[in-house]
Amino acid sequence: MAALTAVDVEVSAARLRSGEVSDGEFDALYATTWQDVSARYWTPVDVATIAARWLTEAGAKRVLDVGSGVGKVCLIGAAITKATFVGIEQRFALVMAARAAAQVLNVERRTMFIHAEASISLMRGYSALYLFNPFGENLYSTAGQLDQRVTLGKERYCQDLSLVEEVLRLMPPGGRVVTYHGFGGRLPDNMDIAREEPIGSDVLRLWIKTERAAAGNFIETDGGLVHLPANLLERTAGGH
Ligand SMILES: C[S@@+](CC[C@H](N)C(=O)[O-])C[C@H]1O[C@@H](n2cnc3c(N)ncnc32)[C@H](O)[C@@H]1O
Repeated sequence: MAALTAVDVEVSAARLRSGEVSDGEFDALYATTWQDVSARYWTPVDVATIAARWLTEAGAKRVLDVGSGVGKVCLIGAAITKATFVGIEQRFALVMAARAAAQVLNVERRTMFIHAEASISLMRGYSALYLFNPFGENLYSTAGQLDQRVTLGKERYCQDLSLVEEVLRLMPPGGRVVTYHGFGGRLPDNMDIAREEPIGSDVLRLWIKTERAAAGNFIETDGGLVHLPANLLERTAGGH
């Protein structure tokens, strides 16, 4: 597929706001290697559009996408809202693809793509977070992984889940989190589901932190939500 021209992209940026851009059209911003894995790894345009609106509708100025991939959520969010979208991504090639697309879409001043592994210090301080199953790849077979240029595996998976869990625990009341295909870990039960919408291959959920003290956790599973009371806080050897 030919890369979009500047004129096409001007049109696309405007059309993003009116919800008319298909995934095929958007993904043409990227090399075919990244287009080919889009359905499995990148958030669809319609999902990103809703997520960006939910995350910013209470006035968040900065949104973080943990594991931003080629940047679809950040780019779409910056095109359709007034907020700044920050992505943390461990693979440099994806960071470069996201930055290049930001230039083409003319949203580079309200997007930032950080090449790093997610850490508490990089994830703290945001009132709006997006999580599209960022760590699931750690559990895939080699054939299902994006590549083997980063360390993947169960140990890494558990470490990364713990980091996000800690960030969610530290998030102040009013903080918003949107999950798609969950993130594999525990959300404190002083977060309420404010919106929930079946879309694409899963359910999109908006969680908002309340003033309540947490008395347990939620886990999003393929079968739905599971509540774990506080006395089940310890991770079991077989679970996460
Ligand atoms: C399922 S993709 C989602 C991409 C993007 N958020 C989206 O919705 O289109 C997960 C991405 O997270 C990245 N990732 C996974 N673990 C990470 C970590 N610990 N730190 C930074 N990036 C990570 C992967 O490289 C991959 O690009």
